[in-house]
Amino acid sequence: MAEQTPDTFRLNRFLAHAGIGSRRVCDDLIQRGGIKVNGELEKNPAIQINPEIDQVMFQGKLVKLQKNVFYYLLNKPRGVITSTTDPFGRKTVIDLIESRERIYPVGRLDYDTTGALLLTNDGDLAYQLTHPKFEIPKQYIALVKGHPNEEKLRELESGIKIENEFVAKGEINAFKIQGNNTEVTLTLREGRKREVKKIFRTMGHPVIRLHRFHFAHILVDDLKLGQWRLLRDEEIQHLKSLMVKLSVHTESQSHRDEKEES
Ligand code: URA
Repeated sequence: MAEQTPDTFRLNRFLAHAGIGSRRVCDDLIQRGGIKVNGELEKNPAIQINPEIDQVMFQGKLVKLQKNVFYYLLNKPRGVITSTTDPFGRKTVIDLIESRERIYPVGRLDYDTTGALLLTNDGDLAYQLTHPKFEIPKQYIALVKGHPNEEKLRELESGIKIENEFVAKGEINAFKIQGNNTEVTLTLREGRKREVKKIFRTMGHPVIRLHRFHFAHILVDDLKLGQWRLLRDEEIQHLKSLMVKLSVHTESQSHRDEKEES
């Protein structure tokens, strides 16, 4: 372990800088025995780490300090594709953001869907945020054709079989009739391709308009369609601590599952 010098960090600060979570989350992780330093379990959050010399491991992976990572939030307008390039020359979400870094979208929204889209060059976070096992909540407002009754809408809570593909599950948060149509607010956690449209097509009420209101509780309501901003520090911290909580939860769940199976 390193002597304290201008190049060293306390272990808890080092982990927080590396994006593992807030200082408090990192203290918890250290105390629960989740961190190894140079091959040994380390429970002292105050020991000094020299990032050039010491090897810090979390969940079997080497922890590295992050440099130049950027997180953007875009209120995606219609008529723009969620991709970094388009062979047909259509406008992409990357064209809308003035970024000098090579950023890419976290998940996708359809060409005609509007709303919250994150973009980043932080590959680990992007991977985790889109992995179905983490069940990141996303809230949508869908204008659908006709008037699905409440009983039908509530079927989503126990699961709706989609075209022999998968079972979609979610929560209906609210619905209100708008003339011949209905506006439904719902939360989904898995993030499959065209999931909302498939759900309502299966119900017999195709989607007319779709907007994603939040992604992991990061709201776009302060942005006009087409506008973007950098995520605020507390939003970045929220995403990172969410990932830490969820990975601890999914790890202990898989230990429990393994135990039950054996
Ligand atoms: N579900 C859809 O059907 N489309 C989207 O763009 C997002 C979720």
